Amino acid sequence: GKGNYRHFMEKEIHEQPEVMGYTLFHYYRSADRSIALPDLPFDPASLPKLTIVAAGTSFYAGMVAKYWFETLARIPVEIDIASEFRYRNPVMPEGGAALFISQSGESLDTLMALRHARDGGQHIVALVNQPESTIARESDVVLETLAGPEICVASTKAFTTQLVALLTLAVDFARRRGSASKEQLDAVMDSLVHLPAQIGEVLKETEKWLPVSHELSKVRDVLYLGRGLSYPIAMEGALKLKELSYIHAEGYAAGEMKHGPIALLEEGVPVIMVAPMDPWFEKVASNAMEVRARGGRVILLSDRSGINRLGDLATWSFELPECDPMVAPILYTIPVQLLSYFTAAEKGTDVDQPRNLAKSVTVE
Ligand code: M6R
Repeated sequence: GKGNYRHFMEKEIHEQPEVMGYTLFHYYRSADRSIALPDLPFDPASLPKLTIVAAGTSFYAGMVAKYWFETLARIPVEIDIASEFRYRNPVMPEGGAALFISQSGESLDTLMALRHARDGGQHIVALVNQPESTIARESDVVLETLAGPEICVASTKAFTTQLVALLTLAVDFARRRGSASKEQLDAVMDSLVHLPAQIGEVLKETEKWLPVSHELSKVRDVLYLGRGLSYPIAMEGALKLKELSYIHAEGYAAGEMKHGPIALLEEGVPVIMVAPMDPWFEKVASNAMEVRARGGRVILLSDRSGINRLGDLATWSFELPECDPMVAPILYTIPVQLLSYFTAAEKGTDVDQPRNLAKSVTVE
């Protein structure tokens, strides 16, 4: 049941600290910082290429993972949405691996893409929340998220647990490849260990998201911007807002705004900036100024130093705890979920079962 929560979505958002912890400590032991994964049919140290394929929110987890595998493990990564990948003729090198991310393990597009990669001679790795699923059964290696059953059609805890598992995997590959310093990898894992408690703190004060959600519930268009690791989170934020509140939302890489979507800006359009203090922050700051100069209302998601730097031009600023920049996309997913949840609740839409959508998409 929903317990004291109004919707399954609200309950599942609040379960995240706990299930992220289950997922992390399923693979990781903080006492000696060791990572234990299922046996792999390939050696990550000599992996020529990793292909990541998924749909919807799981695809955005893959986009974040691409940054992690490239930056930390220095593995060439190709990512695609399942419904495109299966109809392309992608170049798959001998000995390559393909990773399929799916909460349900039943998305037909993802399953067909998996078979396409198998025909291309790739080692098949699945990251699923349902270990008994078809995608799990057809894979060489199965990594699990321990999110527990996700009832709400909109994915929340499945996504954040996917990210926890993917970052742990990327760190493991980085160690085996000797591609990043011990200090950097230890710092990433230490920050990941602290993350569930930090998210618990964010979830203690959800009332502060109500006034802005009230404003969002009245608008027609919303722009979500981020760069680097925050770009996929901007995409995820826009998807969540569309699917739950039926508001037209666009997620964009902030630097791409000037190549088109800036034309949408008029007086009052809300622009949500996913902007932790990271190597991309100054670039995002100048995008925020462009938005402000055109009358857009900036909703700033950042940490203390980011808000000190930019808070003056924002209509609303929300301070999140400090964390390692590599871990930030996981933390910044929480406000994105809360904004869409409270906006939808305010509009009175069917939060757990939005129109036209199904929990697992087993058709083409
Ligand atoms: O079960 P899967 O992870 O394969 O599902 C993929 C998408 O259908 C799913 O993430 C969808 O985009 C969600 N409704 C997003 O909230």
